Amino acid sequence: MTWRERFPVLREHAYLNAGTFGPLSRATLDAMAALREWEGEHGRAGGTYFEEMLARRERVRELVAAQIAAPAANVALTASTTQGVQVVVAGLELGAGDEVVSTDAEHFGLTGPLVAAGVDLRVAAVKGKPAADLFDLVRAQVTPKTRLIALSAVSWIDGAVFPWRELRDATGVPVLVDGAQAAGAIDVDATGADFFTVSAQKWLCGPDSTGALYVREVDALPPRLVGYPAAESYDIAEGTWVPKAGAMRFEPGFTPATALAGLEAALTDLPDGRHARARELTERCRELLIDAGVDVATEPGQATLVSFRVAGDTTDTVRRLYDRGVLLRELPGTGLLRASVGWWNDESDLERLVEGLRRR
Ligand SMILES: Cc1ncc(COP(=O)(O)O)c(C=O)c1O
Repeated sequence: MTWRERFPVLREHAYLNAGTFGPLSRATLDAMAALREWEGEHGRAGGTYFEEMLARRERVRELVAAQIAAPAANVALTASTTQGVQVVVAGLELGAGDEVVSTDAEHFGLTGPLVAAGVDLRVAAVKGKPAADLFDLVRAQVTPKTRLIALSAVSWIDGAVFPWRELRDATGVPVLVDGAQAAGAIDVDATGADFFTVSAQKWLCGPDSTGALYVREVDALPPRLVGYPAAESYDIAEGTWVPKAGAMRFEPGFTPATALAGLEAALTDLPDGRHARARELTERCRELLIDAGVDVATEPGQATLVSFRVAGDTTDTVRRLYDRGVLLRELPGTGLLRASVGWWNDESDLERLVEGLRRR
């Protein structure tokens, strides 16, 4: 089976939308359907059912951890990047008077929980700036009062790679890295970060509402946004609880059993060389668009998103492309369209994109 044949959606579509949701593989679909059927026939009950779910949870933790080169003991399973950010914001008890440095190119999933907590946000204006300037622009916002630097590993707007590791090294300030557009797309080593979030529904091709949070120093972050999986034990009468060892203590809830089964399938048997292949195709996508006269906003040598401007209404363009089987998204308020290029794509998808733009 070719890499492409794993994903039914690619039979008919030029699927370029993993920055929102990755394609679901046949293996993922089958694993979810099989467990759902079992649940329907036998009930979501019984010691074996629950034990198997817990065992799968630990296998998935290992698999996700491997994707970001982190120890599994430091990885909590979450529902999303946003939820990982909420865990960190709650744990650090960030609020009014706490200075946090971020950028104007962040997703609300990162800045939303910070702003809602009332932190003093210092925002580096990086949008549209060359990737080579990002370090200086963010560094300039850091003061002796800064408690946290919160920024993406890869910009969701144009795919620029952000220098979070260099900022951590240069300032000594803890970094909360939004890994939504990085994990599963490019090689990631999260261990240089203090906190690193994963959205598994995107480039890891997991089911909806799956994700993870890496925490480097587990004992230094109080578990505040917790749910049942976080507790080793508790005493309601005494009003006490004992957190689990490791990053499990940060877990806000259980991933649905079927989603967990789908995620396990998605993270099993991944082909070697996939990130290099995705990078190669991304550069090819840029070239093809530029050759076709398209105004490409993404610089070369970044991650796996390619953003570009075309004349006319972007919503209408996305709709017309959709009708031709080319699936991508617009970025509201920016005039940009965004193609997500994954290891499952091939040149035919890129050609269909260019052709679709030409004939629109
Ligand atoms: C950079 C970035 N951060 C956060 C998010 C939100 O992700 P999630 O739905 O996993 O919270 C997205 C989703 O598009 C994103 O692109």
